[in-house]
Amino acid sequence: MAYETLIVETRGPVGLITLNRPKQLNALSDQLMSDLAAAVETFEADETVGALVVTGSEKAFAAGADVKEMARYSYIDVYKGNFITRNWERIARCRKPVIAAVSGFALGGGCELAMMCDIILAAENAKFGQPEINLGLIPGAGGTQRLTRVVGKSKAMEMVLTGRQMDAQEAERSGLVSRIVPTAELVDEAVKVAERIAKLSQPVVLMAKEAVNRAYETTLEEGIRFERRLFHSTFAAEDQKEGMAAFAEKRQPDFKHR
Ligand code: CAA
Repeated sequence: MAYETLIVETRGPVGLITLNRPKQLNALSDQLMSDLAAAVETFEADETVGALVVTGSEKAFAAGADVKEMARYSYIDVYKGNFITRNWERIARCRKPVIAAVSGFALGGGCELAMMCDIILAAENAKFGQPEINLGLIPGAGGTQRLTRVVGKSKAMEMVLTGRQMDAQEAERSGLVSRIVPTAELVDEAVKVAERIAKLSQPVVLMAKEAVNRAYETTLEEGIRFERRLFHSTFAAEDQKEGMAAFAEKRQPDFKHR
């Protein structure tokens, strides 16, 4: 399917989504976020796709929600129209793993979009920030919550209250990104990671993602109980039998996603 604001392709078992409003530094317009929700929905339903990559251009992953569009909205427009909730959160609800490959600016909604993904790979030139305060706004797509959980209160406060940007090195030190990749290799590396995940047992990968995400939602005791239940349930999967048999037989497993 063709989208106005995205380039969507598959690379083997990986769904690759490229945000494609380069002249606007991939400002996240309502159309783009609806397109993104639709693309995620399609890949989620596609059994041949095991993991997704979301990326932007070299200069900008995304420079935030579209300020020119937002400037026209009234309170009633955003409240009644369920702005953000309506289409932005689809990617956070994706059950398959999503890797954000971030090059250049990931500001405001761009940083928030990256944080909705499961793994962030940063190019050497990546810059993360929540500059909404400069516009008389606060972050509205999870920035005050997800950033704080990841980098801690002091750094999150400084970024949210002053709009200071983090470079890739600081983002890696702070645990915001899993690692830094040379800019020219970013997308290929992200696809490689996604391919590796896609070759594993799909249902077990879904369980692993769900279990890690649970850590953000509950107490340690409840989280461990949740993990244990899922761990036990992997023993019912054909792929678990295959994985263990392949180990014993010193061969690669042939997972059937069952
Ligand atoms: N919305 C709409 N248009 C944007 C945009 C945005 N968030 N960011 C950049 N653009 C547009 C610019 O208006 C410009 O368009 P024109 O050529 O038509 O003027 C074009 O993209 C290129 O941008 P610049 O000329 O500004 O490029 P630069 O290299 O000089 O600066 C930048 C880059 C520092 C990222 C600067 O563009 C900038 O500060 N952008 C806004 C960042 C921002 O405030 N983001 C937060 C948005 S609010 C939000 O996201 C709310 C939320 O939590 C959901």
